[in-house]
Amino acid sequence: MDKVVIFDTTLRDGEQAAGGALTITEKLDIGRQLEKLGVDIIEAGFPYTSQGDFDAVELLSKKLRYCRVAGLSGFKREQIDSTWAALKGAAAPLLHVVISTSDIHLNQQLHMSREEVLELTTDAVTYAKRFCSDMEFSAMDATRSDPDYLCQVLSAAVKAGATIINVPDTVGYVQPDEFGQLINCVKENVPGIDKVVISVHCHDDLGQAVANSLRAIEYGARQVECTINGVGERAGNAALEEIVMALITRRDFYEVETKINPERIYRTSRLVSRYMGMEVSPNKAIVGANAFAHASGLHQDGMLKDSSTYEIMTPESIGVSESKIVLGKTSGRHAVRSRLEKLGHNLSDDEFKKTFEAFKELADKKKEVTEADLDSLVADELRTISETYHLEHVQVSCGEPAVPTASVKLTGPDGNILTGSAYGTGPVDAIYQAIKRMVKVPNNLTQFSVKSVSGGIDAQGEVTIKIESDGIGYIGKGVSTDIIVASAKAYMNALNRLLASKKRS
Ligand code: KIV
Ligand code: ZN
Repeated sequence: MDKVVIFDTTLRDGEQAAGGALTITEKLDIGRQLEKLGVDIIEAGFPYTSQGDFDAVELLSKKLRYCRVAGLSGFKREQIDSTWAALKGAAAPLLHVVISTSDIHLNQQLHMSREEVLELTTDAVTYAKRFCSDMEFSAMDATRSDPDYLCQVLSAAVKAGATIINVPDTVGYVQPDEFGQLINCVKENVPGIDKVVISVHCHDDLGQAVANSLRAIEYGARQVECTINGVGERAGNAALEEIVMALITRRDFYEVETKINPERIYRTSRLVSRYMGMEVSPNKAIVGANAFAHASGLHQDGMLKDSSTYEIMTPESIGVSESKIVLGKTSGRHAVRSRLEKLGHNLSDDEFKKTFEAFKELADKKKEVTEADLDSLVADELRTISETYHLEHVQVSCGEPAVPTASVKLTGPDGNILTGSAYGTGPVDAIYQAIKRMVKVPNNLTQFSVKSVSGGIDAQGEVTIKIESDGIGYIGKGVSTDIIVASAKAYMNALNRLLASKKRS
């Protein structure tokens, strides 16, 4: 069967999602998880645009040995130089150069003629090939470009040595039939196209990103660019899990294969959602909380008789499982470590030590530590590694009648201890006022919600908040059996994301 290459751009286009900035440690964790998931290519960043992206591409290039690592570049030589400098340590680097081809972009953004862009294409691809034999060329806004001109530019790129030709639907405009015809047009009008891989990259502005990607596969595309949970610029990118499960479930129709291990899909989705602070909608295909939940009596009746009546794939096939070993305060290191590994968390000894201490602390407070609890603990522990400010201690006094008061202790960027206290309209407000005085970055709280991670009176509370600074939103999450502490952690998490993003830009 033909193979379809899965090019994951969660760490590049996905991270462009508003408020979704990731730290370098989070990027490496996600990269490792994607490698285990079996993606062929990980696009780790856009090195020329920021030091943070440069560092991430450089780090992932060094650390990930089992999949190809891509770095995105503009067409200018200094951009290609910088991308290659970040990428060159990779086991199998892929240099990805992008140029716009639509008249809208040429006239309104680049202020260049079609001839100039054509020349730049040859120049950029030839220059990039000096460094990297594996080279992808993307024609940005391809679906709104004049097809004849698009084919001229792609022909120039193939002639200059591009090994992958990408046809992006940058603004999510195209419809599936049109996209299939465009891929056909490229196949028929670009000399040498049979020697290179045709790739597609679809955005979801009209909710068609997955449908368009699948249609392109039907027409011969053999690489799809996608992201976990469909995160990405604006309405996002094509969701990896939806494309892969469509190809698996309807193998009879598509007759292609991928290298993805589907049982790792759910874990990867959870990790990305948690690190990016973006909840997966409950009705999201494949990974939403309700994707395998049957509520109607008629459906439940069918399910009890035979699950194939209302399920076209099993929850186990994407890694959703009910575990039988109950973890609690008597569980030892071995049981905890092996459950963590099963959940996809391969921690260093140091990381495990911290996580195990947190596990013990939690197990003392609640009867059963669930897999969801473990996921939260790991995310919480690993997050502290890349924090600028760390919450050491928080205490509140409140009641009726009383003036809510909080005192907070933080560790600052140089390891210095900061203490502060404040009054507020309630205990959470008092904590936030105290923290705000110490971490002097202007921001406003715009959203606040609490939910329990697992069921029962001893459940952990997960607080999700959103703050805004300079018009940009930053999500923060915190988990604890005490929702006041969870609220403080969530605020610290959002502030650390804000600071990391400011540092990057
Ligand atoms: O949407 C787009 O066109 C892109 C390119 C860089 C491939 O993200
Ligand atoms: Zn894109």
